[in-house]
Amino acid sequence: MNVLLIGGGGREHALAWKISHSPLLEKFFAIPGNPGIAEFAACVENISIDDNAALVKFAQDNSIDLVVVGPEAPLVNGLADALEVVGVKVFGCTKAAAQIEGSKIFAKRLMKKYKIPTADFEVFDDAQAAKNFIRTKGAPIVIKADGLAAGKGVIVAQTLDEALSAVDTMKNFGTAGKKIVVEEFMDGEEASVLALTDGEKILPLIAAQDHKRIFDGDKGLNTGGMGAYAPAPVVDEKISKLVEEKILKPTIAALKSEGIVYRGCLYAGLMIVDGLPKVVEFNCRFGDPETQAVLPLMESDLLKLMNCCAGGNLSDEKISWSKNFAVCVILASGGYPNSYKKNLPIDGISKAKTLGATIFHAGTKISNDELLTGGGRVLGVTMTAPTLREAVEKVYRAVEVIHFDDMHFRRDIAARALK
Ligand code: AMP
Ligand code: GLY
Repeated sequence: MNVLLIGGGGREHALAWKISHSPLLEKFFAIPGNPGIAEFAACVENISIDDNAALVKFAQDNSIDLVVVGPEAPLVNGLADALEVVGVKVFGCTKAAAQIEGSKIFAKRLMKKYKIPTADFEVFDDAQAAKNFIRTKGAPIVIKADGLAAGKGVIVAQTLDEALSAVDTMKNFGTAGKKIVVEEFMDGEEASVLALTDGEKILPLIAAQDHKRIFDGDKGLNTGGMGAYAPAPVVDEKISKLVEEKILKPTIAALKSEGIVYRGCLYAGLMIVDGLPKVVEFNCRFGDPETQAVLPLMESDLLKLMNCCAGGNLSDEKISWSKNFAVCVILASGGYPNSYKKNLPIDGISKAKTLGATIFHAGTKISNDELLTGGGRVLGVTMTAPTLREAVEKVYRAVEVIHFDDMHFRRDIAARALK
């Protein structure tokens, strides 16, 4: 198969790495890709991932059999629909389905209508009405912008004052902040369960836990994710069953009842509250960094599975998993998620690989044959081992040999599961 991967972050490097193991793979392209992905795929940088017409033309010109879409923006922008029109197969959901991530209100109303467990909520388009409601509820309480806001449109307010000023902050998110959702605070342990689906059958992946805050002990600002591990013991067998039966299957069925066939990866961000999983959010794509911890444990052929999702013939497929644990630590630029320096030389990747680490590139670039930092999240370092403790020890040994100026990483990835 000729495959085109869309995206250029750590998640896409993990997808490319896994796809490259497939015996089905023939030609492999990535737009834009990154220096890590370039090891497996021809990276094309002069086409924007927002330009549906150019992407469709590239797929047709290069006889692409399957397009794999990494990030949410092209899906929300209708890339899968544009490819389907011309008969190019795509792993990634349609624009209508992507609303499950693109609009918090769409997702919350869908869950309410079909009784999928989530926090109680109200929607407001008037700041004063939102504030009045918040005053009746008190804190802690959660305020969310409606549309995509690059992970920054959510404020978990611990005090009433914080909640009231959060309503004003939402105006900063442009159209995303025009409508806001005010949501009940859920107190529990978070986990991410991703599932592959062809719109009928679902195949959940092993559960992972992300670490969203920038500093150890879940302190500081929210980020795209500073590390992940899998499988996450908080999602035990009983909770896995509940996630599948009460959340994933009903959501795919609910979308179908609304006339939407969901094909691709459905990401359920969960809060486990008193032993019961509730949905914090849905995403219409693989998680980052979760994918960098989950895929190294997958023994099945991901490309085959994705092709079955795209073709609507997943029914006979299963996924087999290694018995190991995986831990991924993100190495970020000092200052991230605020401003940070770029173009700093990166050393030690080959040495980390000799220690057994798999290195995923997120924000890197090559200039004059030198590998430099180019983004907030720079690298993901993943190790697998028979126990979580060993995986943690090994991953931090590998992290120690990698260097760039101002490098920042969390030292407590998976610590909660080890307690
Ligand atoms: P979201 O973008 O909706 O995933 O929210 C970002 C983060 O805010 C989540 O990962 C949670 O840590 C937190 N969060 C969102 N909604 C709630 C809620 N209702 N209760 C508690 N924490 C929440
Ligand atoms: N790790 C969070 C996300 O992918 O949205």
